[in-house]
Amino acid sequence: MLIEYDYNLAKRFDSCDLADRYKKFVETKILFSFLGNGKSRRSLDVGTLTGRYLRLLQNRGYWVCGIDVSPVIRDIRIYSSSCQCLHLCQMSAFQMGFRDSTFDLVICMMGTFAHFAPALQEIFLQQASRILNMNGILVISTWNPLCSECSTLQIYADAQRQWILDNSISDEELAALLSKVGFSELSTVHFNFLSNKTVTQEASRLGNLSDSTLLEALGALELKLRMNSASKKQGQMFMTIARKIELRIGVANVDK
Ligand SMILES: C[S@@+](CC[C@H](N)C(=O)[O-])C[C@H]1O[C@@H](n2cnc3c(N)ncnc32)[C@H](O)[C@@H]1O
Repeated sequence: MLIEYDYNLAKRFDSCDLADRYKKFVETKILFSFLGNGKSRRSLDVGTLTGRYLRLLQNRGYWVCGIDVSPVIRDIRIYSSSCQCLHLCQMSAFQMGFRDSTFDLVICMMGTFAHFAPALQEIFLQQASRILNMNGILVISTWNPLCSECSTLQIYADAQRQWILDNSISDEELAALLSKVGFSELSTVHFNFLSNKTVTQEASRLGNLSDSTLLEALGALELKLRMNSASKKQGQMFMTIARKIELRIGVANVDK
């Protein structure tokens, strides 16, 4: 099953409800607390959809390229009008037509990895390793199957949500796949500790705030929970940041 992102679903992703805006907001904060200034480094956003990360990366000095399997990528300028020099391709994550070592950073955000059937997830990671420079960074932000409250985005129909949850693997399973294809895990953060219900309750408790103030307030509460929470099972999502390293297969026997 491929969740087809047509224009309407892309629009719904762009102007989603508060529970989904909160998920996107927290993810963005965490990503940019890890990434420094781009200084013209070359970045690729896999499953870019509306190109929101292309804008954010470009604002931090990255050279940006976005790919998406959906033809909706052709309409991306509708969403990303403030983005200059966009490089966009309708392309599958499993057949990325870039030369080896093209990028310094590859990101795959907001559960895009869980749109890939389990049998194809390793193929994507191999491709990401191939197109990254040595020491290049791969970031995957995806749904946490260990979280009983994991709701995915509200924009999905039930069957789509179930498909995403069925494809979701834990942080430890992802770390094992990453090391198999030549990455070393740098860091994993579990996040989105507020359930959809809590987001709604907090919003009505906080009263009439502007959207950005409300998101900042929810983000502050999230941070408190993240710092105090003993269990990663409570985060709806996790973000893993990994570095491409040299794969040394059989090196131990070479000098014998
Ligand atoms: C959740 S949306 C992406 C949101 C975007 N990454 C963000 O954070 O703003 C998932 C996207 O992945 C794309 N996608 C799904 N399977 C793909 C594949 N095999 N190759 C490339 N893109 C894919 C979908 O078309 C959709 O646009």
